[in-house]
Amino acid sequence: MTGYEEYYKTEDLFGEPYQELKTFFSQYPVRGKLLDLGCGQGRDAIAMARLGYSVTAIDTSGLGIRQMLDKAKKEQLDITGIVEDIYQFDDYKSFDFVLLDSMFHFEKRDLEKETDLLKKIACEIKNQTVLCVCIQDTGKKVSILKDTIDNSGIEYKVLNDTALIYTYEDKASGHKTEMKYCMYIVQKK
Ligand SMILES: C[S@@+](CC[C@H](N)C(=O)[O-])C[C@H]1O[C@@H](n2cnc3c(N)ncnc32)[C@H](O)[C@@H]1O
Repeated sequence: MTGYEEYYKTEDLFGEPYQELKTFFSQYPVRGKLLDLGCGQGRDAIAMARLGYSVTAIDTSGLGIRQMLDKAKKEQLDITGIVEDIYQFDDYKSFDFVLLDSMFHFEKRDLEKETDLLKKIACEIKNQTVLCVCIQDTGKKVSILKDTIDNSGIEYKVLNDTALIYTYEDKASGHKTEMKYCMYIVQKK
């Protein structure tokens, strides 16, 4: 049982995908294979599949993956769910889009591990692949994200750099918390 299994007893824990994310991917001119790393209960994976992307979504939470696949089945969405540690995943070349939402925190104890993973993804994705990272905008997180991509040695174009507000609602109490987020989307040249 992973840390999130208990939380995922609450359905749709994280609520709706950011409107900015849906808008970007709905307006993107082509569709293709999208990898959602750390998909949780599939809030983004489901939205992306509804837009016509062919989604592979990975999480260590078997419960989250099951909840996502149940929804996908009802709507006949093109989603493959895999229960796996994203740090063990190694098939980036097969995807046209890679999404990491709320996966990097860049706290001191995980900083090297997370920046190494980001560099690995940036290096291993094929040219033209779109990499989208959504991250909470506190402290130096956004500059660490951008510096890590800058220093990964890849050539890329910034497609989107948006500051957004994510409102998290605690389903039990109804209490809402607003968080500043950054959605940063680059395309490998
Ligand atoms: C904050 S949630 C975000 C979920 C989803 N991306 C979203 O925005 O709705 C983080 C998710 O990452 C998963 N996770 C954390 N570390 C992971 C790892 N090493 N491999 C796979 N999944 C992981 C957790 O199980 C959890 O579902």
